[in-house]
Amino acid sequence: MNIDGQAWRTIGLEPDGRSVWVIDQTQLPHRFGTRSLSSCEQAAAAISTMVVRGAPLIGVTGAYGLMLALQNDASDAALAAAFDQLNATRPTAVNLRWALERVRDRVLALPPAKRAVAAREEAGLIANEDVAMCSAIGDHGLEIIQRLAAARPEVRKNKPFQVLTHCNAGWLATVDWGTALAPIYKARRAGLDLHVWVDETRPRNQGASLTAYELGREGVPHTVIVDNAGGHLMQNGEVDAVIVGTDRTTRRGDVCNKIGTYLKALAAYDNAVPFYVALPASTIDWSLDDGVAEIPIEARSPQEVTAIQGRLLDGPAAGTLAQVQLTPNGSDGFNPAFDVTPARLVTALITDRGVADASEEGLKSLYGCG
Ligand code: MRU
Repeated sequence: MNIDGQAWRTIGLEPDGRSVWVIDQTQLPHRFGTRSLSSCEQAAAAISTMVVRGAPLIGVTGAYGLMLALQNDASDAALAAAFDQLNATRPTAVNLRWALERVRDRVLALPPAKRAVAAREEAGLIANEDVAMCSAIGDHGLEIIQRLAAARPEVRKNKPFQVLTHCNAGWLATVDWGTALAPIYKARRAGLDLHVWVDETRPRNQGASLTAYELGREGVPHTVIVDNAGGHLMQNGEVDAVIVGTDRTTRRGDVCNKIGTYLKALAAYDNAVPFYVALPASTIDWSLDDGVAEIPIEARSPQEVTAIQGRLLDGPAAGTLAQVQLTPNGSDGFNPAFDVTPARLVTALITDRGVADASEEGLKSLYGCG
């Protein structure tokens, strides 16, 4: 997608073909820049410190991380150690394990001298497939938006179509296009008049910093709201649809996404607002059924709750990025990063293969058996 008129992906190979560049998301929206990763350790650190984040992009970074490891040491032992190191960085998004397994399975039968090149090819394939899947999600989601927009009562038809989204499930969370935001970009390009309510998404504010940033660069009208505003907007007819992403989807259609998603689903259900979840095939965990009981929820640092990052508005250091303490000294924070929305609250899943009921039958109708 575009930044200042230039098309970008979030990740790619450096010209030397041996190291990897990524957009540094810890500096957005205030500074745009890239970082170079030249070792597995650097790739693992980029994932755990959220230089890169978002389930699909975590997976692609992990795949390139294995390539970086194999360039240094292509033995079986080094491959296993790199797999474990990368897989441990973030436990909830299943795309990471999926991508690591794909690269490992591709290289394992090869002699060590051929493994790094094969890993590079496989990581590149995973990245390109992610772009294609997200673009397809956009096409399928566009049809839903067009149908819902046309079905609105006459009094609402002269207003923009209003979508609410939570966290960042846009192109910055993937390689390009995004999941939840792909239908919005496609709708915008199709000339539909739409507006996005962007949940700020505490504690790390991926909505306020990343979703707002990328929607703005693409010229999509949007407004940032505090996380608690969504229910009020839905009660007052200001939301036509909710579209969010997912980090792991069980075979029965439970979805695990950024903390706070579940509360939006409850509010949407209470107000008969359709609640859609957008996902590529790589986010489905066919081995799990009950999301609440079975999906591991990442616990992140309490400091993400007790402090906040922003750009200083005034004073001698105005313009610099800083961490600001919010809570009294001595108050603890607790920081579960994701929650699970049960399938019964999901209107439908928007996938790369089409739209499905959030159920085992629905997913199998598109993907066959897992
Ligand atoms: O903690 P993050 O920023 O990696 O969380 C990202 C999300 O929750 C996204 O909604 C999810 O990965 C789906 S992305 C396409």
